[in-house]
Formats: sequence, C-alpha cells, structure tokens
Amino acid sequence: MGSKWVLVLVMFMFVSLQGCLSQTSGCWEEERVALLQLKHFFNRPNSLRDWVELGDCCQWEAVTCNGSTGRVISLFLQDTRDRELRESYLNASLFSAFGQLMALNLSRNSIAGFVENKGSDKLLRLSNLENLDLSYNRFNNNIFSSLGALSSLKELYLNDNGLKGVVNVSGLDSLYNLESLHMGNNEIGKLIFPKGLRGLKYLYLENVGIHDASSLVSIPSLATLDLSYNNFSEMTTTQEYLHNFTFIEQLRLDGSSLHISLIQSFVVLTSPRELWMQNCQVNGVLGSQEYLNNFTNVELLNLDGSSLHISLLQFIGAFTSLNTLSMRSCQLNGILDFQDSLNNLEALDMSNNEIDKFIFGKGLKKLETLYLLNVSIHDEISSLLHSLASLPSLKSLDLSSNNFSDSTTTQGKCCSF
Ligand SMILES: *[C@@H]1O[C@H](CO)[C@@H](O)[C@H](O)[C@H]1NC(C)=O
Ligand SMILES: *[C@@H]1O[C@H](CO)[C@@H](O)[C@H](O)[C@H]1NC(C)=O
Ligand SMILES: *[C@@H]1O[C@H](CO)[C@@H](O)[C@H](O)[C@H]1NC(C)=O
Ligand SMILES: *[C@@H]1O[C@H](CO)[C@@H](O)[C@H](O)[C@H]1NC(C)=O
Ligand SMILES: *[C@@H]1O[C@H](CO)[C@@H](O)[C@H](O)[C@H]1NC(C)=O
Ligand SMILES: *[C@@H]1O[C@H](CO)[C@@H](O)[C@H](O)[C@H]1NC(C)=O
Ligand SMILES: *[C@@H]1O[C@H](CO)[C@@H](O)[C@H](O)[C@H]1NC(C)=O
Ligand SMILES: *[C@@H]1O[C@H](CO)[C@@H](O)[C@H](O)[C@H]1NC(C)=O
Ligand SMILES: *[C@@H]1O[C@H](CO)[C@@H](O)[C@H](O)[C@H]1NC(C)=O
Repeated sequence: MGSKWVLVLVMFMFVSLQGCLSQTSGCWEEERVALLQLKHFFNRPNSLRDWVELGDCCQWEAVTCNGSTGRVISLFLQDTRDRELRESYLNASLFSAFGQLMALNLSRNSIAGFVENKGSDKLLRLSNLENLDLSYNRFNNNIFSSLGALSSLKELYLNDNGLKGVVNVSGLDSLYNLESLHMGNNEIGKLIFPKGLRGLKYLYLENVGIHDASSLVSIPSLATLDLSYNNFSEMTTTQEYLHNFTFIEQLRLDGSSLHISLIQSFVVLTSPRELWMQNCQVNGVLGSQEYLNNFTNVELLNLDGSSLHISLLQFIGAFTSLNTLSMRSCQLNGILDFQDSLNNLEALDMSNNEIDKFIFGKGLKKLETLYLLNVSIHDEISSLLHSLASLPSLKSLDLSSNNFSDSTTTQGKCCSF
C-alpha cells in the first residue's frame, strides 16, 4: 500500500519538473537579450509592442522558434523601423546570437548598409540562414560583400534598392546553395557575374536598365530568367552567348523593347517551355525562315499587347509543342489561317484584334478553349461557326463583344463541337 503512494508522489514530481523545464526552454536568454537590443533599431511606434523585458520571446510578435529546441528560426522585421529615420546602418553583429536563424525579413526599413566589423567585411554570419529579404531598402553595390558568409542561403531578395551602375555580384561567389536571386527595380547598367553561382535557378532582373544580357551566360543552370521592362533594342548579335542557357525553362521579356533578331536568336534555346513577351515593342522585320524550326519545346507563348505583324504567325507555326497561345491586343489585322500548324494547341486567345476571317484547317485538332472577344470579324457568323465546327476538341468558346452582320439568322443552323 505504502509503496504505491510513493510511486504516485514520484510521478507527480516528475510531471511538474517537466512542466518547469519546458517553460524555461521556451526562449533562450541570449536570444531574448539580442532581440531587445534589436528593438532599438526596429523602433517604429506601435510595432513589436510585446517585445518587453520579461517573458517567453518565442511568443513575441515577428518571432518564430523551433518548437523542440526553443531557438529562434525566423524573424519577420519588415516595415518596423521608424519611417522618419532615413538611410540607417544596421549593426550586423546584433544577429550573431541567432545561430539557428533560417529566415530573416528586413524589407522596407530604409537600411543603407550593415555597420562594419573590424577585421571582416562578411558582416552577416548566419550559417543556417536560407531566406533573406532585403528588398525595398537603400542598399548599394557594397551589399554583396557583406553577404559572403551566408553559406546556406537559398533565396535572396535585393529588389527595389540602390544598386547602381556596374554591379559586381562576385561577393556571392561562395554561396553555393543560392537558387533564387531577386534584383529587379534597381538602376543596374551592367552586371558582372562570378563563375561561382553554379546552382542559381531563378534570376529576376526586371526593370534594371540593362541593355544586353551577355554577362548572364556564365550561369548555365538558370531555369527562370526574368528580363522584363528592359531595353534590348540595340542588342542584335546574340546567338553566340544565348546558346549557353541550356536549361532555361521560362524566359520573361514583358514590357521590353527588343529587335526581332533577339527572338530569332532564341531558336538556339531549345529548352524553354514558357516565353512571356507581353507588351513588348518588337522592332525589325523577320528575316530568314530557316531560323524558325527549333522552338520545339515551347509550350506557352504570351504576346499580349505586343504589336506584331501578321507575318509573325508563320513564325509561331514553328512552335510545334505549343499548348497555350495568347495574343490579345496585338494589333493583328487580316486573315488568320491555321491550316496545318499548331497541332498541340489547347488554348488560344486572340481577343481585341481586327481579324477579317479565320481559316481553321486540319491543325488545331486539340484546341479546347478559344477566346475571340472583340475581334471585329467582318465575316458572317454562320461561316465562322462553320469553320469552328472543324475543331473537334473545342469545349469553351467566347465570342463576346463582336458585331456579326447576320447574327439574327443563325439560330438552329449550327453546330456540333
Ligand atoms: C527543430 O529542431 C530539431 C533539432 O535540431 C530539428 O530536427 C527540427 O527539424 C527542427 N524543426 C523545425 C521546424 O525547424
Ligand atoms: C555592434 O554591436 C556589438 C554587440 O552589441 C557591439 O559590441 C558593437 O560595439 C556594435 N558596433 C557598433 C558599430 O555599434
Ligand atoms: C517580407 O515582408 C514583405 C512585406 O510584408 C513581404 O511582401 C515579403 O513577401 C516577405 N518576404 C518573404 C521572403 O517572405
Ligand atoms: C568583381 O569583384 C571581384 C571581387 O571583388 C574582383 O576580383 C573582380 O575583378 C571584379 N570584376 C570586375 C570585372 O571588376
Ligand atoms: C531603347 O534604346 C534605344 C537606343 O538605345 C532608344 O532609341 C529607344 O528610345 C529606347 N526605347 C525605350 C522604350 O526607351
Ligand atoms: C558557353 O559554353 C561553352 C562550353 O561550355 C564554353 O566554352 C563557352 O565559353 C561558353 N560561352 C560563354 C559566352 O560563356
Ligand atoms: C535546329 O536543330 C537542328 C537539329 O536539332 C540543328 O542541326 C540546327 O542547327 C538547329 N538550328 C538552329 C538555328 O539552331
Ligand atoms: C476592342 O479591340 C480594339 C482593338 O482592335 C481596342 O482598341 C478596343 O479597346 C477593344 N475594346 C474593348 C472593349 O476591349
Ligand atoms: C455593328 O454594326 C452595325 C452595322 O454595320 C453598326 O451600325 C453598329 O454601330 C455596330 N455596332 C458596334 C457596337 O460596333
């Protein structure tokens, strides 16, 4: 009898001791102190209000801890610096307590740089950091050398900063795990890329003012390249270096000015599956047809808002794997003839063009979705529906906002899709 009571008592003590331990392991003292030091910098009124002396810092706003170790693994400090304070420098060593930190968001804080430590320029030393967002700050070209010690970094956001002129990215040379680099909306004139970034897959360079992409060929691993909103109109001889992007899957040139020869040079890129060229200004006249045979892997082509001559359709006929084609508002006019081409096309949008007549031949046999809004077809609807009847897979058809001359006479005549 007596020994049972002892057992119960021991169990009770064990349980309460455990409860006590997990409470202290909620937040590490060293990290709590470091957070309170950081609060002097991230001082926007009404932000980080629960960052006060006592308590479990794992429960604090903007902090996430690993549930089993109690170590801080992410800090979301975006937009927490007083907006009145401009151009501030952040003491990087305040982060040195966070040895397990994996994600750090410092976006929108007007930070112009990290304060120098004596003896080293690789300021941020966070060996587990995988995701770093420094976007919408005032970092300049020196930022790259500060980041050279972030050996686990996979994703880096430096878009909307003060990068300017000749930007030498060599400071990132040792970041072997870097997969994704965002540098859009900076005034980069010329980029110098190191040989090291062998694993880089996603590179975003929208609206950076570069005029040629020749420095990017040293990154053969790229899968997505975003060059939207740049001016490549002077870049004509590109074949030599474009052929090194052998793995590229998605190329974005939305809003860019370019010469037709750049498109021709893409034929050597046999791998891309998606080509985005919305609102492009394409200059020049399409030259030799022999260039057009090799777009065998492109599945998506989006040319919305780009002004194109209808002769380009011949060129698009060379995209034999094309699955989705969008050419809204391309100022196309004339007769659209799809005789035998685009056998794999499933979705086609030709809205907001002035098209006189469609001819659908044996091609387009997989077409399921067709948008022909506001195409001002001068043809009679009965003849249009007649030719649409030759599309055996058609499931969805939108002919809104058109003005068919014989629209009252068609009821009952048509049509089996
Ligand atoms: C928490 O830390 C443990 C031990 O280091 C690790 O195994 C686990 O994956 C971590 N969990 C998270 C969500 O990071
Ligand atoms: C940065 O913070 C560390 C640790 O708190 C401190 O020792 C150092 O003096 C600070 N450096 C500057 C330039 O404020
Ligand atoms: C960082 O915070 C900004 C602003 O709230 C947000 O838009 C962004 O997605 C965050 N970054 C990451 C990598 O999650
Ligand atoms: C880029 O920076 C690295 C390291 O600072 C330097 O060695 C290299 O010469 C620079 N490249 C150019 C083209 O300036
Ligand atoms: C692109 O650059 C060329 C000359 O380099 C210039 O003539 C043209 O106006 C520019 N286009 C745009 C949209 O800025
Ligand atoms: C393209 O790749 C080939 C072979 O890998 C290499 O010899 C050549 O220098 C590369 N071209 C450029 C411009 O990097
Ligand atoms: C197109 O592909 C063929 C065979 O794959 C190749 O011989 C030819 O050089 C390519 N054409 C161009 C312009 O790259
Ligand atoms: C119809 O298309 C024309 C171009 O052909 C365009 O100017 C017009 O804005 C479009 N209308 C609507 C309602 O989208
Ligand atoms: C449709 O066509 C008729 C006859 O040509 C014309 O009177 C009418 O204004 C047109 N409507 C629109 C919306 O274009």
